[in-house]
Amino acid sequence: MKNILVTGGAGFIGSNFIRYVFDKAGFKGRVVNLDKLTYAGNPENLADIQRKFKGRYAFVKGDICDFKTVAGVMKKYKISEIVHFAAESHVDRSIFGPKDFIETNIHGTFSLLEAARTIWGIGNREPGVGNRGSGKFRFHHVSTDEVYGSLGKTGKFKETTPYDPHSPYSASKASSDHLVRAYSDTYGLPITISNCSNNYGPYHFPEKLIPLAILNALEGKPLPVYGDGLQVRDWLYVEDHCAAIWKILKKGRAGETYNIGGNCEMKNINVVKGICAALERAVPARHNKALGGKKYSDLITYVKDRAGHDRRYAIDFSKLKKELGWQPSVRFAGGLAKTVDWYLANPGWVKNVKSGAYRSWLRKNYTR
Ligand code: NAD
Ligand code: TYD
Repeated sequence: MKNILVTGGAGFIGSNFIRYVFDKAGFKGRVVNLDKLTYAGNPENLADIQRKFKGRYAFVKGDICDFKTVAGVMKKYKISEIVHFAAESHVDRSIFGPKDFIETNIHGTFSLLEAARTIWGIGNREPGVGNRGSGKFRFHHVSTDEVYGSLGKTGKFKETTPYDPHSPYSASKASSDHLVRAYSDTYGLPITISNCSNNYGPYHFPEKLIPLAILNALEGKPLPVYGDGLQVRDWLYVEDHCAAIWKILKKGRAGETYNIGGNCEMKNINVVKGICAALERAVPARHNKALGGKKYSDLITYVKDRAGHDRRYAIDFSKLKKELGWQPSVRFAGGLAKTVDWYLANPGWVKNVKSGAYRSWLRKNYTR
């Protein structure tokens, strides 16, 4: 049986990826999810998978920074493929407290790389002899378009765009990308890297723009728009992202980077207005007592801008399309409607995720 190690699988994209692997990719092996359960990790995201795929899904609570833990999991489960999501992922948090970003995103990635090359025996090759693990192993590193910095009015990020990160988050991800590439060039570790744009969809922790705005609007709370709201992001539905990662894991060329984008550039203010429109269709404001007679769009509130705020991101994913035949399938209006419906259909998840007491109980007590 093939065993894949997914790090950070209890987070937003990681849990969607594990669900995709079991439900959509036709995978017959085992997934081991190594996650520290920080504030962003929630094992409830995979409760159904845990029930349905007993024996083929294993959860290990642990820190990727701890080499012994990682090496122990890799040996115990005879891991041959790693998909590395685990990270501190929120730009605003990185501005107020960068330390955890340096720890997890840089040191954590380093400890995973060391465990992979040691246990797979790849670093033992003679200098200059590229064995790349003879195709048996693969280390896929999930990264972000934010490493490329900020675009002007035109142009898109290509895989060859020079790195120019501006936040502690993007700088820490850039460092981890460089380390991953260095392990390929120096030791022949069979790696791939993907740099993708902003994701949205189910199980998104409500500190990021889209889930925050959906839940605030439903409760009649302000919808904070940073600065002038004219910053542009390229939105990617999370399941499309998972399909792209699966393709890269299975068919991507070792040593390569692939950009993943949604072909969906939107100004932040239009995203928030889109959320208001989607909510108006699902729960008309006149039926929502929390609004006290207001419209959803009345809640939009311009606030102080984020420090070092990148103006525009856009992704050129033509390499992935040409080499592996991937392109996004979900358009923004449809993806947003599905996302709104998911939050409305899962009030229990929302309540738990917002309850500090429940979350710290989970962190302490959840071990399976
Ligand atoms: P998330 O914050 O929702 O989840 C991160 C997960 O990693 C959590 O389950 C957390 O408990 C776990 N984790 C954190 N530190 C850990 C540690 N030291 N050891 C083990 N587990 C740890 O993040 P996400 O939005 O799902 O992002 C996943 C990956 O995708 C990240 O690497 C992020 O940089 C990248 N990415 C995200 C986006 C996006 O729009 N969300 C876009 C581009 C790239
Ligand atoms: P976010 O969801 O935090 O993702 P990222 O910083 O990784 O792009 O933010 C998306 C965009 O929305 C970004 O330009 C910042 C902006 N933003 C707001 O305007 N208001 C908010 O409350 C948040 C969280 C983000």
